[in-house]
Amino acid sequence: MSFLRKFFLYKCLFALTCWNYVSLSVEDELFTSASNHFPEDGSNEKMNSLPLRYTKSHQSKTDSGWVVIQNTTESLSLSEITDSNVKKLVALLSNFRQGSKLQNLTLTNVSVNWNALMEIFQTVWHSSIEYFNTKNVTQLLNIKRYKFDYSGTSMKALTMKKIIITDLYFIQDDLYEIFADMNIEDMTIADSEMIHMLCPSSKSRFRYLNFLKNDLTDLLFQECDNLHQLETLILKKNKFESLVKVSSMTSRMKSLKYLDMSNNLLRHDGAEVQCPWAESLAELDLSSNQLADAVFGCLPANVRKLSLENNQISNVPRGMAELQSLEELNLASNRLADLPGCSGFPSLQFLNVEMNSMLTPSAEFFQSCPRVRELQAGHNPFKCSCELQAFIRLERRSGGKLFGWPAAYECEYPESLRGTQLQDFHLSLLACNTALLLVTALLLTLLLVAAVAFLCIYLDVPWYARMTWQWTQTKRRARHSPPGDQGSALQFHAFISYSERDSPWVKNELIPNLEKGEGCVQLCQHERNFIPGKSIVENIINCIEKSYKSIFVLSPNFVQSEWCHYELYFAHHKLFSENSNSLILILLEPIPPYLIPARYHKLKALMAKRTYLEWPKERSKRALFWANLRAAISVNLLKADANLYEETD
Ligand SMILES: *[C@@H]1O[C@H](CO)[C@@H](O)[C@H](O)[C@H]1NC(C)=O
Ligand SMILES: *[C@@H]1O[C@H](CO)[C@@H](O)[C@H](O)[C@H]1NC(C)=O
Ligand SMILES: *[C@@H]1O[C@H](CO)[C@@H](O)[C@H](O)[C@H]1NC(C)=O
Ligand SMILES: *[C@@H]1O[C@H](CO)[C@@H](O)[C@H](O)[C@H]1NC(C)=O
Repeated sequence: MSFLRKFFLYKCLFALTCWNYVSLSVEDELFTSASNHFPEDGSNEKMNSLPLRYTKSHQSKTDSGWVVIQNTTESLSLSEITDSNVKKLVALLSNFRQGSKLQNLTLTNVSVNWNALMEIFQTVWHSSIEYFNTKNVTQLLNIKRYKFDYSGTSMKALTMKKIIITDLYFIQDDLYEIFADMNIEDMTIADSEMIHMLCPSSKSRFRYLNFLKNDLTDLLFQECDNLHQLETLILKKNKFESLVKVSSMTSRMKSLKYLDMSNNLLRHDGAEVQCPWAESLAELDLSSNQLADAVFGCLPANVRKLSLENNQISNVPRGMAELQSLEELNLASNRLADLPGCSGFPSLQFLNVEMNSMLTPSAEFFQSCPRVRELQAGHNPFKCSCELQAFIRLERRSGGKLFGWPAAYECEYPESLRGTQLQDFHLSLLACNTALLLVTALLLTLLLVAAVAFLCIYLDVPWYARMTWQWTQTKRRARHSPPGDQGSALQFHAFISYSERDSPWVKNELIPNLEKGEGCVQLCQHERNFIPGKSIVENIINCIEKSYKSIFVLSPNFVQSEWCHYELYFAHHKLFSENSNSLILILLEPIPPYLIPARYHKLKALMAKRTYLEWPKERSKRALFWANLRAAISVNLLKADANLYEETD
């Protein structure tokens, strides 16, 4: 005990030296935050119209020395109570016996010694006052034991804000005892640098205790059995350090439902210790402390609403906490890298994980947490990549369960997408599915290979390409050769192309018939007019080039001869390049269409047009055939002859 006293004495010294640093803004906060239970003004209309912080020019000092801020039958508010007018105040208050109408008393700027303050309290205690508020009580000197008479009171709630003890040497218990043993339901001692409070000496009626913004430590209410009716305990902004100690503090508070431990210095190292929380505790605020993952090993079993906002939690360990009743969990402003699962929280309905470090939250969340109605996951540094797609789809599937969508959900990485809402971030299915991408690429390659193979094998494209190249080369060479050479451009009336197997017919029938007749048709055969030193292809091209017409002797043999086909190709090529109608087709024997290879599509097209001369089997018809053929050749015969003679000149 003596050790404790010394300790408190030391703390009081500290409090004394720093009390005047407390600024007005702190008081403002108190008036708003702690006044929920004890509003300053109340329902009185008249009072609402009065300024709380009056100026002296508006309120004149009475001859008693205090300032009246409010004076109605139900409530009285006075300021500037000093040692010189405190006797008068006590005399005034003793008029309001129990049963009178005055309910609310507020005293502000009280500067009296301890004994005078106790006299005020004692008088109020036996009056009709139900709500007693004091604000800014200073100059408390000569603190000594006061025999307080707790009998017969109307008091329901006592609120003290900013009581600053200026006494240096006193017995702490003499001060705390007075308040600890008050048999009322509601008590607030806020912003008073209070370092301790005693356990009530007998069963207490306290249901609500608010010690906001003091210097209370882990020693508070340890082993205290007499707060069995306490339902709400607010210890926000104090100096608690051990979560285990806090839990053991609550262990004997059988009715405790709400505990606010926010803004303390709480830690929990996760050593194998039991945390004996009150079983009745349903709502626990542990926000703004220094708790890490181990906190999940020290939580009240029946908690329904839990805030761990602004701590240092990086992960919710699986299997550590089994909180069957937990409905609301606030993990905002921590260091979570992913969404927690619900394995330990089967009843979870609301989860807040805003402002954590989640780059790509997993999308399995709603599967593992089917009862969650609302997930608040905005303001995380989302990395907009393929992996995030699943999470974005999650929002669509969840049907509006993502709170703050879309505004609170923005890309943080990569840099180029920073600030883009997740809602507007799209990647194609292909870009994100490697398997699909590979299959597609493979299919495209196969298709290309197939196309090339088709062109090569079926349409003989490489050959055509080579030959076309040769054709243009020959033409080019011809253009650049000396002019004398060019005169030989047209030497023949016709070029004949035929299969070697049809050569008897050509030599015995065609050539004699054409060359012998009148007009003397000159024919170019590539074997006969062969120019040594040139390739076969070049010879063929030459022959075609030097002839007005090209005669093709079509037969099944012709179709099967590759060379003939190429000759036809060249002739056709010339036909197109010079736009003259120089092809003459002779059908020596009928060719069944199936016999023509598919790639000879030009031949097929020509055959289909039926613009060929058929070689008649009957002798009688042959005269007409020759006449026809000659006519076809000799359309240009005269002109050709003219040209021929010009050239030979
Ligand atoms: C007295 O104070 C209480 C609590 O602050 C309030 O509810 C009540 O309305 C007040 N009564 C009057 C008459 O101002
Ligand atoms: C309050 O007002 C009544 C009359 O309206 C007056 O008699 C009484 O002295 C006033 N009380 C104080 C403390 O000024
Ligand atoms: C208390 O005293 C301070 C400083 O003298 C003054 O500014 C303030 O208005 C007073 N408060 C009331 C309610 O009288
Ligand atoms: C508290 O009251 C004292 C006088 O009683 C006054 O000098 C001081 O300024 C007041 N402080 C505030 C914050 O109102």
